[in-house]
Amino acid sequence: MTNATISLAPLRGVTGLRFRQAFQAHMSGLDLAVAPFIATVQGDRVKPEILRGIEPSVQPKGLPLIPQVIGKDARQLRVMLRAMKELGYTQVDLNSGCPWPFVAKKGRGAGLLRDEANLAAMLEAGCEELGEGNFSIKVRLGIEEKTLLAKRLPILLRYPLREICVHPRTAKQMYEGSVDLDAFERICEACTLPLTYNGDIRTLEDYQMLSARFPTVSRWMIGRGIVANPFLAESIRAGKDTRDMARFQAWHADILARYAENAPGDHALLGHLKELWSYLAPTFKQGDQLWNSLKITRTRDEFERVLRLIPLQWR
Ligand SMILES: Cc1cc2nc3c(=O)[nH]c(=O)nc-3n(C[C@H](O)[C@H](O)[C@H](O)COP(=O)(O)O)c2cc1C
Repeated sequence: MTNATISLAPLRGVTGLRFRQAFQAHMSGLDLAVAPFIATVQGDRVKPEILRGIEPSVQPKGLPLIPQVIGKDARQLRVMLRAMKELGYTQVDLNSGCPWPFVAKKGRGAGLLRDEANLAAMLEAGCEELGEGNFSIKVRLGIEEKTLLAKRLPILLRYPLREICVHPRTAKQMYEGSVDLDAFERICEACTLPLTYNGDIRTLEDYQMLSARFPTVSRWMIGRGIVANPFLAESIRAGKDTRDMARFQAWHADILARYAENAPGDHALLGHLKELWSYLAPTFKQGDQLWNSLKITRTRDEFERVLRLIPLQWR
């Protein structure tokens, strides 16, 4: 059992509205979700379609959502935060972790850490616009070097942030190599704001190891681990494996129906399903066979036929 706070990480193209709706209809264990990033825009108006994924009326009940912004211009950040406030959101997160070179090189995402003055201007704007304890930042250890966050930490600590969420990899690592727990520990020791750990929690054992190593951390964010095993948050709460094939099948039928309802055709639907199954397949004993068969399907019927023909057993 744990009373830790467990949040769903933002995974653009994966943990969007449909995923969160299906999750909440069949699974449990999450306290909140951070939505995949929305980029700041030029001008003074945010088109409603940009905010469609965070439209409050369609969000699942019981899973509070924190929108996330990516950008580097404090004025544009204010415009986006006001639009989000108009929708009713009081808390928003700033993406300072996106590792893609075309994002980071332009000073956005992980690149925000590079320019101290601009980083401070963004934090200032966010905290001023939302008030104390409502703006947060999601960061990596650095861009090329894993010491950059430690250097920037004093700047972050000057602002009344809701939290700092740390994914202990550099941007250069993308999602490869291992998380650096020693570097996270150093941040943990120096951080006087609430701190969330994020990265590579894939099993109950991973969570148990991390929570034993970092007893002062009570906030955990999980992304790929929950996509691969939607029971993970629940299993962490229960302290045991709670996977159940009937519930998995019901969840999967539901998410498939939600994707289908919103996809203009099989091509778009299969895009969503293949992305989802690239995470799910390795959790099954028949993972390689499943993935090799699923990835070459061209229609919904073919996709569903593969899932009917290959019996699913978790590893
Ligand atoms: C496909 C994909 C999309 C992502 N999109 C976002 C995003 O929109 N905002 C963000 O802060 N992080 C994003 N991330 C990073 C995740 O939120 C998370 O930090 C990372 O996957 C490590 O956590 P995990 O090991 O629990 O998945 C993304 C990661 C992946 C793999």
